[in-house]
Amino acid sequence: MNKVITPAPTAGDNSVQAFDVERVRKDFPILGEEINGRPLVYLDSGASAQKPRQVIDAMSTAMETYYANVHRGVHAMSQRSTEAYEAARTKIATFLNASSTNEIIFTSSATEAINLVANAYGRKFLKAGDEIIVSHMEHHANIVPWQLLREEIGVVLRVAPIRDDGALDMEAYESLLGPKTKLVAMTHTSNALGTVVPIADVIKKAHDHGALVIVDGCQAVPHSKVDVQAIDADFYVFAPHKIYGPTGVGILYGKEELLNSMPPWQGGGDMIATVTFEKTTFQKAPLRFEAGTPPIVEAIGLGAAIDYVSTLGMDNIAAHELGLLHYATQRLNAIEGLTIIGTAPEKAAIVSFVMDCAHPHDIGTIVDQMGVAVRTGHHCAQPVMDRFGLAATARASFGLYNTRDEVDALVESIEMVKEFLG
Ligand code: ALA
Repeated sequence: MNKVITPAPTAGDNSVQAFDVERVRKDFPILGEEINGRPLVYLDSGASAQKPRQVIDAMSTAMETYYANVHRGVHAMSQRSTEAYEAARTKIATFLNASSTNEIIFTSSATEAINLVANAYGRKFLKAGDEIIVSHMEHHANIVPWQLLREEIGVVLRVAPIRDDGALDMEAYESLLGPKTKLVAMTHTSNALGTVVPIADVIKKAHDHGALVIVDGCQAVPHSKVDVQAIDADFYVFAPHKIYGPTGVGILYGKEELLNSMPPWQGGGDMIATVTFEKTTFQKAPLRFEAGTPPIVEAIGLGAAIDYVSTLGMDNIAAHELGLLHYATQRLNAIEGLTIIGTAPEKAAIVSFVMDCAHPHDIGTIVDQMGVAVRTGHHCAQPVMDRFGLAATARASFGLYNTRDEVDALVESIEMVKEFLG
């Protein structure tokens, strides 16, 4: 997979143009839209990425030509639909370098995937006093499920601090690990700061203490190659809609033996082997965790998205985005009264910032007038906002289709904020 179609450019120099972004942009119909009479400058891919024609077409074709329920019929449409659904699972397994397709579970969202682990793994294997470590920069989806578990069974939540630049404090993390640590639930890349966590190291240290690790990879998978075996993740979660696929589907990777040791979380059709009123037996993973009709068309759309990014090459995408990150950082740093929040040495193409003269919501509203879409608020990560003494930031998050001209448009729109409110 990951066919390289152009030489990987060096991050941060002008050769990022070797990645043919103008050709790529043509695949995304929405990028031709205008906002307030100006071309859309979409810098909110961290919240949800736009969809290429290839994904839209794959989903339409499924619904127009072979749609039916999966795993349930001998008729041709059901078989074709099942084949396409399972082919998507195979693509995801290959993409993540899972050792088996049985390790890939389709959920309804990344949030549901984390809740699945909290419920199926947590309720069976954790007990009062066991410790779960999260970092200070987790998304709420990787905090609240563990708090719910704490209320239910009395596990203890410990928080690994971050440094002032937004990097994980590795020494402090290590000092939290001990005999009581049973699980580490950690982001791979912070959605609010862009920090890339040295996740292989985090996992190794957790394993040295006998703890398992669930990784929230929602902001990592769209930006660079992830190999779940190389990092030795026990569970790895991602959100297809952030990697140019549809909403309504999430992915949970889990080591096969681990998944099969866990009881089902939700009961229903397709996850059972036999049912009588006296006793029900269950399928093994992945079907054990796919109760009910799954997100069929969405899984097929995700398969097309995986094909799409794999054809472009994750290394090419990463290099292109890092070029944008460096350029945006340099240009935004030059604006007086603007402060970037999150300056860790390893970052994905996400830039959070605040301005002396304007509240983030005002920034978002004014730049929108100029066609520039950024996210404003706490980014579903209130604890990390608290860590920096902030209620909110404005956040530009880049995707494979963004350009240096769009960084310039962002900067121009921020100059307007200063003009109005400065
Ligand atoms: N978690 C998404 C974001 O970071 C919604 O914007």
